[in-house]
Amino acid sequence: MAKLEDIVSLCKRRGFIFQGSEVYGGMAGTWDFGPLGVMLKKKITNEWWHYFVDSKDNAYGVDAAILMNPRTWKASGHLDTFADPLVECKECKSRFRADKIAEGISESVTTEEFLATHTKCPVCGKENWSEIRKFNMMFSTHVGAVLPEDTSNNPELAEKNTAYLRPETAQGIFTNYKNVLDTIYPNLPFAIAQEGKAFRNEISPRDFILRDRECYQLELEYFVHPDSWETEFENVLNDFKNFLKTRMGLNIENINFLEVAPEDRAHYSKRTVDFMFEYPNGEEELMGLAYRTDFDLKNIEKESGKSMEYRDKNTGETIVPHVIEPSMGVERLFLAILSTAYTEDEIDGNSRIVLKLPEHLAPYRFCVSPLLKNKPELVEKAKEVYNKLREKYTYVTWDDSGNIGKRYRKQDEIGTPKCVVIDFDTLDDNTVTVRDRDTTKQTRVKIEEL
Ligand code: GAP
Repeated sequence: MAKLEDIVSLCKRRGFIFQGSEVYGGMAGTWDFGPLGVMLKKKITNEWWHYFVDSKDNAYGVDAAILMNPRTWKASGHLDTFADPLVECKECKSRFRADKIAEGISESVTTEEFLATHTKCPVCGKENWSEIRKFNMMFSTHVGAVLPEDTSNNPELAEKNTAYLRPETAQGIFTNYKNVLDTIYPNLPFAIAQEGKAFRNEISPRDFILRDRECYQLELEYFVHPDSWETEFENVLNDFKNFLKTRMGLNIENINFLEVAPEDRAHYSKRTVDFMFEYPNGEEELMGLAYRTDFDLKNIEKESGKSMEYRDKNTGETIVPHVIEPSMGVERLFLAILSTAYTEDEIDGNSRIVLKLPEHLAPYRFCVSPLLKNKPELVEKAKEVYNKLREKYTYVTWDDSGNIGKRYRKQDEIGTPKCVVIDFDTLDDNTVTVRDRDTTKQTRVKIEEL
């Protein structure tokens, strides 16, 4: 298994991921995708959308606003319960998420339970802790022409003008569920998908892109009949196993499907299976599958006074559907894919790093280059081949930097499956060398057969 620092270093060296606001010294918990990172991320999200929305008969998409009416977060329970256990070291004033620095405790840990673990402060090594406090993870902001000082003595006005950056994309789906019902008239079971940014004021962002303050979620809500939730849950579970294996290239045998204990489940869930992936720094949740019951739709009914009922066109039965939710952050999927693909091997006594990405996810499928860049006839021929391939494939790159060995090394590191090289023989017989990323085997191929 690759070391995390090797992957971080490759990501920076080759333009996959940079620290957020790096030029100003960075900003904790934020990351920027560079040119190759954007390409890989888009391919991942497009695959997800294609697999779970475009290829299904009963799945629809929405793209809701990030800023939502604050009543959304009252109804969803986030204002009251979306909080982490915060503990402060009284000696050095460092603050931590209690369940992340002590062994064997959960998010619902009490002060007594935490103190009984006799955890030392990771910064100063002392053991002198504050009480555990609940720290709400939503970012808040002011909306409209009201200054913070206008509301300092006016809690009502403050509340009226406070909005939150959404902590999950799911609520944009629930608030549009009725709109989808009234415009598309789907039959149960059906799914609504949304992808986009979500924001969480994590106490301790860590492990590269695994715990961020801003992440990009891929979420689906399956609206199902309450009597069939168990079957639907298994169907979605198996569909995700298949997706991760066949489309994302992950080794399913290395994922631990963890049945989450009731006390560790989110406030809305009656059953949760966490997909625990073995990352370079240890096991972490790649995605979660939750049975959210009718929690969200029922709470929207209460808060808005509007009916969320669905009427079966054939039987006339009227119900509030129940919900199965597979939810995944693209950053965690991105790192799972990279750590699976990252390989160090030796070819003819030379060590190399190669990203063995599935071909359909690799940022570029082909790299075209002239053997020597100071030979105009080779460059011209190579351009011709490059343009020809570009007509057929979008993801073709051109590389005439350094020598051919360096180019191969670079293309291996960014996962390009095939390098096409134009040499002097090409001018005679219209054949090119095609070099395979994984085997490094070179074969001669006619240009028209590329
Ligand atoms: N709508 C349900 C929901 O948001 P969650 O378990 O809090 O559930 C779902 O988050 C997924 O979103 C996680 O499995 C993870 O992939 C991703 N995620 C959540 N918080 C994250 C963070 N701070 N940084 C990166 N990814 C995160």
